[in-house]
Amino acid sequence: MQKDIEKVLVSKEQLEEKTKEIGKQISEDYKGKKLVLIGVLKGAFVFLGDLVRNIDIPLEIDFMAVSSYGNSTESSGVVRILKDLDLTIEGKDILIVEDIIDTGLTLSYLVSNLKSRGANSVKICTLLDKPERRKIDVELKYKGFDIPDEFVVGYGIDFSEGYRNLPDVCILKEETYSK
Ligand code: PRP
Ligand code: MN
Ligand code: MG
Repeated sequence: MQKDIEKVLVSKEQLEEKTKEIGKQISEDYKGKKLVLIGVLKGAFVFLGDLVRNIDIPLEIDFMAVSSYGNSTESSGVVRILKDLDLTIEGKDILIVEDIIDTGLTLSYLVSNLKSRGANSVKICTLLDKPERRKIDVELKYKGFDIPDEFVVGYGIDFSEGYRNLPDVCILKEETYSK
C-alpha cells in the first residue's frame, strides 16, 4: 500500500461485483432504448471502462469534462464546461456516469444542461455517494456505495491529480491533504 493511504474503503473485489450488478440492471432497463453513456472526466474513466464491459446491449459512449473543484478539496460551486460532447443527444436516453457525488453541484448542472438539448431522458449512475455533503438534491437512478465524509482516492478519483490509478477506493491520510 502507498504510504499516503490510511486504508482501503471499497476493495477492487467489491468494485468488480457492484459494477457487474449495475451493468446487468442497465442492460435490462435500457433494452430497446437509444442508450448513451456520458462519462464525466476525469474521475469517471475507470468506472465507465469497467461498467461498459458489463452492459450487453447496444450503446454509445461520450465524455464531458467540467470543472468544479480545480486543484482544491472544496467545491467552488462554479461549473465550467472544459470539453463538450461530440455526439448529438436529441431523442436519446442519457445515462451520466460519475465516480462520486459530493455537493451535487456538478450533476445538477449537467442534468439540466443535457435535458435542454432535447434528450429523451437523462439519468445518473454514480459509483460513490457522500450524502452528508449534499447541497442540491439530485435523483440517482443507479448508485454503487454510500460512503462517509472522508477524503477518498483511487479507481479514477484523485487528490491533486494523483492516485487515480489505485485499484481500490482508499482513504487518504489526513496529513497528506492538510499540509
Ligand atoms: C469530482 C468528482 C465529481 C465531482 C463531484 O470531480 O469526480 O465529478 O467532483 O463533486 P460535486 O458533487 O461537489 O459537484 P473533480 O471536479 O475533482 O474533477 P475530476 O473528475 O477531473 O477529478
Ligand atoms: Mn469528476
Ligand atoms: Mg478531482
